[in-house]
Amino acid sequence: MKPFTTCVHAGAHVEPTTGAIMQPIFATSTYVQEEPAKHKGFDYSRADNPTRQAYEEALAAMEGARHGLSFASGLAAVQAAVQLLEPGARILVCDDVYGGTGRLFRRLFAKYNLDFQFVDMADPAAVKAAATPATKLVWVETPTNPMMKVIDIRAMAQVAKQTGALLVVDNTFASPIFQTPLALGADIVLHSTTKYIGGHSDLIGGALMMSRQDLFEQLKFVQFAAGSVPSPFDAYLMHRSLKTLGVRMMQHHKNGMAVAEFLASHKRVKRVMFPGLKSHPQHAIAAEQMLGFSGMVSFDLDGTYDDVVKFLKKLKVFALAESLGGVESLVNHPEKMTHASVPEEMRKKLGIGPSLIRLSCGIEDTDDLVADLKQAL
Ligand SMILES: Cc1ncc(COP(=O)(O)O)c(C=O)c1O
Repeated sequence: MKPFTTCVHAGAHVEPTTGAIMQPIFATSTYVQEEPAKHKGFDYSRADNPTRQAYEEALAAMEGARHGLSFASGLAAVQAAVQLLEPGARILVCDDVYGGTGRLFRRLFAKYNLDFQFVDMADPAAVKAAATPATKLVWVETPTNPMMKVIDIRAMAQVAKQTGALLVVDNTFASPIFQTPLALGADIVLHSTTKYIGGHSDLIGGALMMSRQDLFEQLKFVQFAAGSVPSPFDAYLMHRSLKTLGVRMMQHHKNGMAVAEFLASHKRVKRVMFPGLKSHPQHAIAAEQMLGFSGMVSFDLDGTYDDVVKFLKKLKVFALAESLGGVESLVNHPEKMTHASVPEEMRKKLGIGPSLIRLSCGIEDTDDLVADLKQAL
């Protein structure tokens, strides 16, 4: 099946007693057993729930994976993946990783004797040089948040294979419509489903998809034992959102492209970061491993922080808020908002400064988004 069909039909089973076409919300914590340990496959909803199971089946199908696991947030999914490791492991992480992921690694997990090394993964030679026999995990986010670096997933898979490490790819920005990392050699794909998969800024969630049975069994155990699962209501809404992911992504892509081109031509804009622009330093890799470029666009305004604040206040369609990937357009100031927890010297090195603005282009009419930016500039 092709991706739009998969979006609509994956995990959709007609309910046998009524013929309902939609998966019911099984709002139950427990299940009656005939005899001790004799039941219909469900005993407790932290372990499994039919609504969640149908959603997880759909998640797996979207990434071409055998298995999908859902979590209460994107960071809960990150946490579960790190819990595969033993103390002493070395982890190579892309330097421009989402601020919250970096904070979890630096401030919570580092104290468990896990050695996180932040590397510029847009340079595969730097990753090769940093890999050692102690490297157990290579952590990639592509495109990165907020600098939109594109990392060559195939090259990272090669490094991971040579050192016997696992490759995790955070696919939140591309969505499974535009990028399927398992097909490029990743072992585990991660999503903050809060973003494009949820798509309506009304849910928090996360997901891991994988095909290897051993990884599934270990991660399923973490999900069950640590218990960071979505409620049946959230699982239902996420599954419902997945059905329109394909059509939404086409409009996000169209708007992202038009906004990036408009900004690149404007004299008040110093530089634009969008993988779909030919001027993007990794455009060739992006064009090879992605089918579209989503609605995320970062740019530097040619002006001071005060000019940036004036610009933000003038916007009428783009709302100033954290998060991304919803149907409505958002604008964010990474230095003061989403990436405030990134150490200052790292922010400087990456270029996350006072003039950097990140846009999440929604699915509104393209002309309205461009007109809004034009009047504010
Ligand atoms: C790329 C990326 N990964 C992971 C996360 C964390 O997800 P959540 O906020 O759902 O915990 C985010 C959140 O912004 C993100 O942008």
